Amino acid sequence: MNNRRIVLASRPTGLPVPENFRVEEAPIPEPGEGQVLLENQVFAIDPAVRGMLDDVKSYLPSVPLGGLIPTMVLGRVVKSRNPGFREGDYGRAFIGWETHSVIAPGAVGFENVRVAADLPLTAYMGACGWSGITAYVGLKRFGEMRSGDEVLMSAAAGAVGSVGGQIARLSGCRVVGTVGSEDKARIVTGTLGMHGAINYRACDSLDAEIARHFPDGIDLYFDNVGGITLDTVLPRMKPFGRIPVCGMIANYNHQTDPYRLRNIWQVLVNRITMRGFLAYEALDMLHEAENALADWVRTGQLIATENVATGLDAAPGAFIRLMAGETTGKTLVRLDETVSTLAGWTPPGHG
Ligand SMILES: NC(=O)c1ccc[n+]([C@@H]2O[C@H](COP(=O)([O-])OP(=O)(O)OC[C@H]3O[C@@H](n4cnc5c(N)ncnc54)[C@H](OP(=O)(O)O)[C@@H]3O)[C@@H](O)[C@H]2O)c1
Repeated sequence: MNNRRIVLASRPTGLPVPENFRVEEAPIPEPGEGQVLLENQVFAIDPAVRGMLDDVKSYLPSVPLGGLIPTMVLGRVVKSRNPGFREGDYGRAFIGWETHSVIAPGAVGFENVRVAADLPLTAYMGACGWSGITAYVGLKRFGEMRSGDEVLMSAAAGAVGSVGGQIARLSGCRVVGTVGSEDKARIVTGTLGMHGAINYRACDSLDAEIARHFPDGIDLYFDNVGGITLDTVLPRMKPFGRIPVCGMIANYNHQTDPYRLRNIWQVLVNRITMRGFLAYEALDMLHEAENALADWVRTGQLIATENVATGLDAAPGAFIRLMAGETTGKTLVRLDETVSTLAGWTPPGHG
């Protein structure tokens, strides 16, 4: 058996197309001292990867032409030369779209994940994985969330936003989400229990909608999108409001010509604390976040949502749908149909 992997065939212009990707085969690599070999089970499909496909500076290196498409993977350990992993354990790390991965200590997010039998495997790549962890540390540490905060969550039906909005609600905040469709608005206020939703594509004035939902202003804006949404939010922040900057997906498909903010002066007017963060740099909160998220999901207090494609070859299509705004919840690829998902799963005791 070979390692099948997807590499960058050409750099996308705007929204990626299938021709930007190519499947290659190579021998399955052998782990060296301290390394493990994973048979991958699930890939996370992440917007930040779009930035790495351009030849511009990002917080992770740009992918060279012919290079493996990077992603977070969860795989079963099939060979270990690392005392922290045994065969049959589940390893998670930032590697790429491939069927088998050798992981070395020091890889981003490298962790022996304690997979519980009562949660589907895909949950460890969405609400109980890095999307959930990002929302948790972003709100609690970088957003300094307090009970009673008035919170606006952008991309609220997406992987990070859907979890973040629920964490804010569970923490005693009033939370409204911005979304790009009426279906997503219904999910945000219905399934996910947020207090309101703004469909930024359908409203006449985003500013008026924000003012209607937040007549006294916003304490905490969790920014997943940047662009015109961030620009519109800045004047609507309360004095000393907080903006943890998680991502700016509105610019990812055209990074060479990003939206130019007009209202940045409002950071001073409202004395806003605006702070970019990378979740994997808050490792001291990792186990706290993982435990809280798994407990909330297991007890049915937090609804995990996902959309799962099957098979390595499905990865480019899933990524293109994500970058076109067509997905809801965490976008994932499972390598085969035996991998358990949230479909048909209910929290123990809630069936
Ligand atoms: N800092 C970190 O450590 C970290 C970790 C993970 C993710 N992130 C960032 O978090 C953000 C969300 O990631 P995710 O994985 O949860 O993705 P996601 O929300 O599941 O998917 C992306 C969503 O963004 C929205 N979107 C797309 N284009 C947009 C545009 N031009 N303007 C406004 N919204 C747009 C779409 O939702 P609508 O249809 O509702 O617009 C789309 O469904 C991304 O910016 C990502 O880079 C950061």
